[in-house]
Amino acid sequence: MASEPWEGEAISPSSKAGPLELDDDAKRADRARMLADLRWGLAQNPKRLSSKYFYDTRGSELFEDITRLEEYYLTRTERGLLAENADGWMEAFAPKTLVELGAGSARKTRILLDAMIHKGASPRYVPVDVAGDFLEEVASELSVEYPTLDITPVVRDITLPPTFREGLPGPVLMALLGSTLGNFDPPAAIDLLSGVRSVMEPGDRLLLGVDLRPGAGKSQRTLERAYNDALGVTSQFNLNILDNFNRQVGATFDRDAFEHRAPYNAELGRMEMHLVVNRDTVVQAPGLAPVSFETGEHILTEISCKYDRPTIDALFEKASLVVETWVPDSAGRYAMVVGAPQA
Ligand code: TRP
Repeated sequence: MASEPWEGEAISPSSKAGPLELDDDAKRADRARMLADLRWGLAQNPKRLSSKYFYDTRGSELFEDITRLEEYYLTRTERGLLAENADGWMEAFAPKTLVELGAGSARKTRILLDAMIHKGASPRYVPVDVAGDFLEEVASELSVEYPTLDITPVVRDITLPPTFREGLPGPVLMALLGSTLGNFDPPAAIDLLSGVRSVMEPGDRLLLGVDLRPGAGKSQRTLERAYNDALGVTSQFNLNILDNFNRQVGATFDRDAFEHRAPYNAELGRMEMHLVVNRDTVVQAPGLAPVSFETGEHILTEISCKYDRPTIDALFEKASLVVETWVPDSAGRYAMVVGAPQA
C-alpha cells in the first residue's frame, strides 16, 4: 500500500475537547495553527491544503448540499444500509452511548438514535466534530427533536484518540460514517483506527461506512460523477477552502485562478480532489513568503480512498480490530462494516 504523508503527519491537531466557546486566546492559537498548516502545505510538492479547512460554516453547508446530489450516491446508500440494519445491530450490542466521529449534520444519526431508543435505551449521544459552530447548531436542533436525549458535543479533531470514552456509559458504539475513513491515507487511517481501538472496551463496537472500489457492480464513471456533479456544488465546496484561508488568516488566494478537478487514481484506489491552476498566480499570507503557482499545477485538497473487503481486513488487522460484519449494498457500491476489538 502506498504511504505518503497526509493528515496523519505534520499537520497538528487544531482543536481541543471541551466547551464550545473558544476564547480569544484559543482563536488566536487556531489561526496560528491554520497559518502554520498553510505554510507547510504550500511547501509540499504537489502543494496541498489540509481538508479539515473545508468545514467552516459555509463549507459545512455546501457539504450538506453535496450529500443531496443525485450523483453523490454515498449518503443515500449509507442511509439505506443503516435503516435496514440498525435494529439488528442495537439488538446485538445494546449500546448505551453513541459516539459519532465527524458528526457533520448528524442526519443519519437519527436512524441510529431511533434504533437505540426503540431498543429501550435512553442513550447518550456524543457528536465529535472539528466544525464547532455547526456542531452546536446540530446539537441544539437534536435536543429539540429528542428532549430526553443526553447530548455531549465535543469540538475535537477526530484523529485524536477519543480519550473521553472513559466515563461514558457502555457499551459504546463508535460511528465513523460518510466514507470519512477514506479521507485518510492508509498510515493515517491505521492511526485513527488504532486510536479508536485504544479506548474500546470488549463490548464496544465500531461502525464504519466505506465506499467501494470500481468492480463488479460499480463503474469508475459512477465514482467520478459523485465528485464532479453537474451543478458544480463540489466545485464550490472545493474552492471554498481558498475563501476560508482568505477569511480566517488573511491569505490572498485568487479563487478565479483555480478550478476543481476530481480524478480517480486507480493505482492508489482513491479519488483525489485537486484545485488546478489556470493562470500563473501568487498567494500571500501574513508571515509567509509569497508563493507562486504555475499554470497547470494543482493543489491536492482531499483524498477519498476506496476499499474492498481485503483492504479493510488489512487496515483492521494493523489496528487490532476484526471485521465482525460486512454489509455491502445490493449494487456493490458502498458497505457498512462493524468492527470489534481483537480478543
Ligand atoms: N467523506 C466524503 C467523501 O470522501 C467527503 C467528500 C465528498 C469530499 N465530496 C467531497 C471532500 C468533495 C472534498 C471534496 O466522499
